[in-house]
Amino acid sequence: MRFDPWNPDFVASPYAVYDELRREAPVSFFEPTGQWLIARHADVNALLRDRRLGRSYLHLATHEEFGREPEPDFQEPFWRVIRAGMLDVEPPVHTRLRRLVSKAFTPRMVESMRPRVRAIVEGLVDDFVEKGGGDLIAEVAEPLPVTVIAEMLGVPDADRHLLRPWSADICGMYELNPSQEAQHTAVRAASEFSDYLKGLARARRAAPGEDLISALAQIEELTEDELVGTCVLLLNAGHEATVNVTGNGWWSLFRNPSELVRLREDLSLLPTAVEELMRYDTPLQMFERWVLEDIEVGGVAIPKGVEIALLFGSANRDPEVFDRPDALDVGRADNPHISFGAGIHFCLGAPLARIELVESFGALLTRAPDIALVEEPEWNPGYIIRGLRSLDVSCG
Ligand code: HEM
Repeated sequence: MRFDPWNPDFVASPYAVYDELRREAPVSFFEPTGQWLIARHADVNALLRDRRLGRSYLHLATHEEFGREPEPDFQEPFWRVIRAGMLDVEPPVHTRLRRLVSKAFTPRMVESMRPRVRAIVEGLVDDFVEKGGGDLIAEVAEPLPVTVIAEMLGVPDADRHLLRPWSADICGMYELNPSQEAQHTAVRAASEFSDYLKGLARARRAAPGEDLISALAQIEELTEDELVGTCVLLLNAGHEATVNVTGNGWWSLFRNPSELVRLREDLSLLPTAVEELMRYDTPLQMFERWVLEDIEVGGVAIPKGVEIALLFGSANRDPEVFDRPDALDVGRADNPHISFGAGIHFCLGAPLARIELVESFGALLTRAPDIALVEEPEWNPGYIIRGLRSLDVSCG
C-alpha cells in the first residue's frame, strides 16, 4: 500500500506505510495534493516551531503575490469565520487573540473544572451501564466534551444539539481535496454557526452571565468577526479530537487486552495511559503549514510558496524517539508525542482535554468493569480527523 488518504484501508491502518516513509522517503512530494510529506518526529517537531513556516501566508502577501489561486467567492463566509480565529492567523494577531482567551485555559483554571467534568461523565456512564452499553462514541465520548465546552462558553442547553453537526460540516473542509458538496456544506455550516453566535453574543452583551462568551463580548478590542471566529474554534477544537481519542483509545485497549487489564488494576496509570493512547492512535493525523521562506528539510530543498504536510501519526511511531513504538504501553514514562502540536499554536485546550480524558477513561474503567467490544468498528472516511464511526460495546 502507498500513502493514500482517500483509501479506507489506508485510513484504517496507516502505520506500515508511515514506517516505510520514515525509512525510505522521510521528505517526499505527494502529487495529488502538491504537498511535501514530512514523516520523521525530529523534522515534524522542528518544523512546528520554525517561524519560516505558517498556518497562513496572508499576513505577508496576497494569494496572488504568494503565487496561489484565491479561493472561490462562495467560500468567503467560511474563511471569514476561520481566519478570525487564532489557529489560522500568525503573529502579531495570533499573539493578541491567544492572550485574550488563554487565561480561561490555564492548568489551574481547568483544574477547578474537574469536579464538574467528573459529575458529567459519571452521569453519562451510569446511564450507559444501566442500559447494558451501546455506542460508546454517541453516548459518552461525544456528549462529555461537547457539554463541557458548551457550558464553559455559555451555549444554552437547548441549543447544544446544533454544535456537533455544525462542527462536523466545517471540519469537512479540512480533509484533503474536499468535494464540491463538502465545501458547500462547510460554507453553509460556517454561516449558520456565525449567525447563531452573533445573536448569542448580542444577548450576553446586554445581559452578561458568568460564561466565556459574556466575558469575550465585553472586550472592546475584539471585533465581531474575531469573537465569532474564537467561539467557533473553541467549540469545534474543544470536542472533535477528544471524541476521537476516546473512541480510538478504547479500540486500542480492546486490541491490547493485557494493557486494559493492567490499567484497570492500577488506575494510577491513567495519566500516562491517556498520553500513550494519544500517541498510539493519533486523532489528528496531519497538520499543514505554508512555506514562507525557502527551507531545507533532511537535505531536500523546499521552496517558498508550497505547502508541507506534517504526519503526526508517523512522528508518534518514530523508533528514533520511542522505544518499541508499535507497542501500546499504558505506563510509558518517556512520551514526547506530538499530538497536541508544538510551537506557537500548541493546543490551548491540552490541560482541559487531559482532564476530560482521564475522567472519562477512569469512570468507564471503574463503573463498567465488564465493558467488552460487541463488533469490530468502522472508521469514518476522514483521514486528517481520524476516528471511529461508532464503537458498540456491552457493559455487564
Ligand atoms: C485530545 C484532544 C485534543 C487534541 C489532540 C488537540 C490537538 C491540537 C493540535 C495538534 C493543535 C495545533 C494545530 C497546529 O499546530 O496546526 C491544537 C490547537 C488548538 N486547540 Fe486543541 N486539541 C485537543 C483538544 C482541545 C480542547 C479540549 C480545546 C478546548 C478549548 C482545544 C483548543 C485548541 C485551540 C484554541 C487551538 C489553537 C491554538 C493556537 O492556534 O494558538 N483543543 N489542538
